[in-house]
Amino acid sequence: TAPKKLAAGNWKMNGSQEALSEVDQLSSAYPAPGCGIVICPPATLIPALSERARGTAIKVGAQDCHAEVSGAHTGDISAKMLAEAGADFVILGHSERRGDHGETDDQVRAKLMAAVDAGLTVIICVGETLEQRDGGSTLDVVRGQLSGSIPDGLTAANLVVAYEPVWAIGTGKVPTTEQIAEVHDLIRSEMTRRFADGAAMTLLYGGSVKAANAEEIFAVANVDGALVGGASLRADDFTGIIRALE
Ligand code: G3H
Repeated sequence: TAPKKLAAGNWKMNGSQEALSEVDQLSSAYPAPGCGIVICPPATLIPALSERARGTAIKVGAQDCHAEVSGAHTGDISAKMLAEAGADFVILGHSERRGDHGETDDQVRAKLMAAVDAGLTVIICVGETLEQRDGGSTLDVVRGQLSGSIPDGLTAANLVVAYEPVWAIGTGKVPTTEQIAEVHDLIRSEMTRRFADGAAMTLLYGGSVKAANAEEIFAVANVDGALVGGASLRADDFTGIIRALE
């Protein structure tokens, strides 16, 4: 189930066993946070992190899954396996997956259905490249990714949408609040048009969010939280973002 306000940390391919202590720091700082907190570590750390987070407010997520439950897919992990390992969430369609692994909207949609079948809540990522923004096609690109990647029949309990402009990821560049508002308005209206409880869906912004800019971003209409990369790796940085959201 997706909390309405959500701070999600995507560790990407970072973090070792030692990083697990960051979670202890987070859970002791926020025994009863005013927002949901999800940490998505590399798959190898999911069991240990889930164990560590048991009984705390912190939920654990994965960064990708395969569209099938099992089979001859060397190197892949199914949504069911992630759920068994302790994940409640999974990020799908991240631009690094779309870019590095050539994932298409169709593939992302198939993964999404598998994840929901396995009982996971999906954080689906959409967002334009700098070239697309400069070419004036941002809204068309995002609309296309939303309709291509998100199947029918979802609810606010199993779908969270994250807007991540590719050019803002890991670059320190952040869109203006007007630019964020414009895309989040589009996402909200698409979700409301397609889903009975679209108005209640959690919409995240991601891309160079840090404690210093979080408050301004969270003040934008239809921004219910953040998907945080770099600034989620250290509890000290991530707590600043959580504080701005609570
Ligand atoms: O999933 C998270 C995003 O890609 C944002 O990464 O906060 O390091 O820019 P970043």
